[in-house]
Amino acid sequence: MKAGFYQTETLFGEKDRNLQRVLERLEVIKADLIVLPEFFATGYQFTDIEEVEALSELVPDGMTTKALVEISRKRDIFIVAGLPEKTEDGRYYNSAVLTGPDGFIGLYRKSHLFFEEKLFFSPGDTGFRVWDTDIGKIGIMICFDWFFPESMRTLALQGAEVVAHPANLVLPYCPDSMPTRCLENRVFSITANRIGLEKRGGKPPLRFIGQSEVVGPDGKIIVRASSDKEEIILIDIDPKEAKEKRINQFNDLLLDRRPDLYRL
Ligand code: ACM
Repeated sequence: MKAGFYQTETLFGEKDRNLQRVLERLEVIKADLIVLPEFFATGYQFTDIEEVEALSELVPDGMTTKALVEISRKRDIFIVAGLPEKTEDGRYYNSAVLTGPDGFIGLYRKSHLFFEEKLFFSPGDTGFRVWDTDIGKIGIMICFDWFFPESMRTLALQGAEVVAHPANLVLPYCPDSMPTRCLENRVFSITANRIGLEKRGGKPPLRFIGQSEVVGPDGKIIVRASSDKEEIILIDIDPKEAKEKRINQFNDLLLDRRPDLYRL
């Protein structure tokens, strides 16, 4: 299948502009799966709860998820995209949705909140999820979740073949760490990061490091984007390669685990 990412230059608060740009590109590309960044249409550096309220949406009934569902149906494409979610009972989550040719598929709420996200968002309560789709088993984690090996391990143990990873990376470590995450779990990952700078409300500036990438189950970086340009990169991958967890005739990376010893 053809899979990859759209590394965006998101402008804070310009949701219509950011969303329209992505939709226009999705109109013309041919892909089976595309991953968009965390908060791809809103920007990241919120300065108060009023901004969060103004830019967050219900899932799946909000404008962004509806637009993604529509383009998924029209272009026959699976999309994973990050957005700030609000709930009917007044909570906010850093969430990602999966949409496909048959419509809305599922929601993941970020488990490990980073830095000032803790001021505004509730820690995710969905747990890690994997969806068995026509193109393969897709799991989702969001940005800083990568720093906790349990995130990808949990997805791998549920059978994920491709881990979609919307991100707004500012620390430098993730792009060089994903190969280890993929190698130890034998899965593909697609990290979709953004570029650009946000410096809002007198807060320290956040520079988003780009370097979105696709990594294979052998831990090799198949493709990596620049650190400073908008880019769409799509490549052919075969998710079935992620089914093979044996590394020789004696060792299987999931079956050889010793959960009885992994207790404190
Ligand atoms: C991050 O989790 N957005 C760094």
